[in-house]
Amino acid sequence: METTRLSSTTARPVDPAAPVLLFDSGVGGLTVLRALRDVLPQAPVIYAADTAGLPYGTKSEAQVAARVAGLLGRMTERWHPRLVCIACNTASTIALGMVREVLEVPIVGTVPAIKPAAAMTRTGVIGLLGTEATIRQGYVDRLEHEFAAGKHLLRCAAPGLVAAAEAKLRGEPVDPAAIARAVDGLRAQPHGQDIDTVVLACTHFPLLAAELAAAFGPGVRFIDGAQGIARRIAHLTEGQAFARTGPDRAVFTGGLEAARALAPALAAHGLEAIEAF
Ligand code: DGL
Repeated sequence: METTRLSSTTARPVDPAAPVLLFDSGVGGLTVLRALRDVLPQAPVIYAADTAGLPYGTKSEAQVAARVAGLLGRMTERWHPRLVCIACNTASTIALGMVREVLEVPIVGTVPAIKPAAAMTRTGVIGLLGTEATIRQGYVDRLEHEFAAGKHLLRCAAPGLVAAAEAKLRGEPVDPAAIARAVDGLRAQPHGQDIDTVVLACTHFPLLAAELAAAFGPGVRFIDGAQGIARRIAHLTEGQAFARTGPDRAVFTGGLEAARALAPALAAHGLEAIEAF
C-alpha cells in the first residue's frame, strides 16, 4: 500500500458529505470496504466497479492505465471524493503513479503485501497469487528485491479466481477446479511444497479465503493488504467530519442486470443503492 503526500488541497476543509471513493474492476474492492467499515464506519462511501472493463488482469498495461485514469478523472469530477482508493492490485501496480500525477485528491493504492509476508514466513518460501498483469509488474520485482531478498517468492497468475469470486458473490457455486489450478500452480514450482505464507495479491482473492485455506491445507497462512489500506485511509482522513446524506452507493460501468445479482452481497457491505455510471 502506498499513499500520496498530503498536498495543499487536502488542507482545505472537507465537505462532511464528501465520499471516500473505492474503485475496482469488480467486487474485489469489497474486501477493502469491509476493512474500512471496521475502522471508519461513519465514512460515506461510493463503491465504483468498472464491470465493463472486468477483468483487468488479462488486459495490457496501456489498456488498464487508460481505463483507470479516464474513469477516475470523470468520477472525481462528478463526486468530489475526499480520497480515492484504488482497491485493485492490477490497477494500482500499473497506474498508481500516473493517476497521482493527474488527480488532485489523496490516492491510496493497493500493492501486494510482500513486506509483511516476508516477516511472517518461517520456511522462507512465499507464494503470491495475483492476476496475470500484476505478477509481471516491475512494481512486484521492486517489492521482492526490497523486502524478500534471500527468500523464495513464487508467483502464480490465477485469473480463474477472479471469476470464481464474482460468482460466489452472486450466490453461485465456486468452481473447485479454479481453486485447484491456483494451488497447484504454486505447489508445482521448485520449493512449492515449502510454502507457508501466501500473498493474496488481488483484492478478489480474500473472498475465497475459506476455499483456498481448505485446498492448501494446514500450515499455510494468508495475507492481503486490506487492513493496512483501511488504516491508511483512516489516518489520511483523521480529524475530518463525516456526514452521510443518503445510502452508500455501488456504481457500475457495465450492465445493471448483472449487478443486481450482487445486491445481497452489496447490501451486506452497506451499499444499499445500485447505479450505472
Ligand atoms: N481486483 C483486481 C486486483 O486486485 C483484479 C481483478 C481483475 O479485474 O482481473 O487485481
